[in-house]
Amino acid sequence: MQLKSLKASFRSASHLSYLLLACNVCFLAGIPKAEEVTHGDQQGRGVSSQGKRCEPKTDIVFLKVHKSASSTVMNILFRFGETHNLTFAFPNGGGNQLFYPRHFLASFVQGFSPWSPQRFNILCHHMRFLQPEVQKVVSSSAVYFSILRNPVQLMESSFVYYKGTSAFSRARSLEEFLSQPYHYYNPANSDSHYAKNLMTFDFGFNPDGEVTAERVQLMLNIIEASFDLLLISEYFDESMVLLKEMLCWDLDSIVSFPLNIRDSSTKSPLPDTIVEKIKDWNRLDWEIYIYFNRTFWERIDRDIGRERMQQEVKALRDRQAELARTCLQGTGSVAPKDIKDSSLRPLQHGNAKILGYNLKQGLHKEMEHTCRRLVTPELQYSSILYKKQFAQKQPQTHQPSPEQTGQTP
Ligand SMILES: *[C@@H]1O[C@H](CO)[C@@H](O)[C@H](O)[C@H]1NC(C)=O
Ligand SMILES: *[C@@H]1O[C@H](CO)[C@@H](O)[C@H](O)[C@H]1NC(C)=O
Repeated sequence: MQLKSLKASFRSASHLSYLLLACNVCFLAGIPKAEEVTHGDQQGRGVSSQGKRCEPKTDIVFLKVHKSASSTVMNILFRFGETHNLTFAFPNGGGNQLFYPRHFLASFVQGFSPWSPQRFNILCHHMRFLQPEVQKVVSSSAVYFSILRNPVQLMESSFVYYKGTSAFSRARSLEEFLSQPYHYYNPANSDSHYAKNLMTFDFGFNPDGEVTAERVQLMLNIIEASFDLLLISEYFDESMVLLKEMLCWDLDSIVSFPLNIRDSSTKSPLPDTIVEKIKDWNRLDWEIYIYFNRTFWERIDRDIGRERMQQEVKALRDRQAELARTCLQGTGSVAPKDIKDSSLRPLQHGNAKILGYNLKQGLHKEMEHTCRRLVTPELQYSSILYKKQFAQKQPQTHQPSPEQTGQTP
C-alpha cells in the first residue's frame, strides 16, 4: 500500500466519513501516525542487520491480541524491560488487563496524570486499542506492533479457553455453535467479543460490522497507519527475527519458551466444513489476517531475504535449544499438576489445560534468574514488575524517580 496515497486519502473528507462508518468509535487519531510509519520503516531498514549501528528501542506499544501467542511476546517485553530498568504502563491497581474490554483510556494507567509529561516505556497489557489515548502515555517515537493468528485456530482456541462466556456456554461444541451461531451469540452481551472477530475487536473496531470492501480497506489502512509491524503467530520464529531487527535488540532478548500454551489433549483437528464456517463467521478477522500475512512476507523479502531469514531462525532455535537444556528439567513443558514451584504455575482457564515448566535444580544464581524469568507466567511476572516499579516510589519524595519522569535511566 502506498503510504503517500494513504495519507492523502485520509486527508480527504470523503474518507473521513468512511472512517466514521467503519469504526464504532471515531478512530481519527490513527491518521497523524501515518507520518511516523514511513519514518519507522526507514529505521527498520537501517537496523536491518547488515551490521549497521542502531540504538535499541525502548519505547514500545504492543497490542496483545488474545489467543495469539501474545503471552510469549509479553514475556520477552517483560524481560527486556526488567533488564533495562524500563517503566511499564500498568493497569491501575496492578490488574492484568487495561480494563478490557473497554476501549483504552490513558486514565486506566497507574501513575498517569493529564497534567504531567510522564511517559511510560512499554505498554503491553491487554487492551482494546484506541490510539489517541495510547499516545498520551507513551513517547511519540514509540514503536507499535502486534501479533495476529489464523482466525480458524484462534477461534478454536477461544472456544476452549472462553467456554464460560455467554456465547459459548450453552454450545456443546464449536460445530454446534457454528451450526446456528445467532442462537448462542448476542452482540449485546458484554462478553460477546470472544466469539466473533476477536482480533477486529482488540484493534478497536466493531466486530459485528457489515463486511464490505470499504470497511475492510479502511480497517487495513488504519491498522497499517498505526502499527509499525504486524507479526504472525504461525511464523513465530520469523516474527521474532523481524522484531529483533526492528527494535535493534540482540538475540538473547528475543528468545523464549512458549508460554500459556495448552495441552494438546484438548485440541482436535477441524473438518474442512467447520474451517469454512469459522472463516465466514470471522470474516473481518480473516481479511486482516490474510492481508498482514502477505505484507509480513513482503517485508521479509524486502528487508532480510529468505536466505538470511533462515539463518537467523536457525540461530534463534539453536539458542533456545541450548537454553532449554540449561534451564529446564526434562524436555519441555509439563502439566500444571507437575509444576513443583507454584510461582511458576500458570493460571488455568476454561477447559484448557495450560502447561508450564520446571527449572533444573542447582543452577548458578545468575543463570537461575535468567531461566526463571523465561518461564515465569505472565500474571506472576507482571505482579513482580508492578511491585518493583511502585516500591521505588515512596522513598524518593524529593527527586523524581524513573517512574515519575518516565525516562529511561
Ligand atoms: C538497573 O538498575 C539496577 C539497580 O538500580 C542497576 O544495578 C543496573 O545497572 C541498572 N541497569 C541498567 C541497564 O540501567
Ligand atoms: C501466509 O503466507 C504464506 C507465505 O506466502 C503462505 O504460504 C500461507 O499460505 C499464507 N497463509 C494463509 C492462511 O493464507
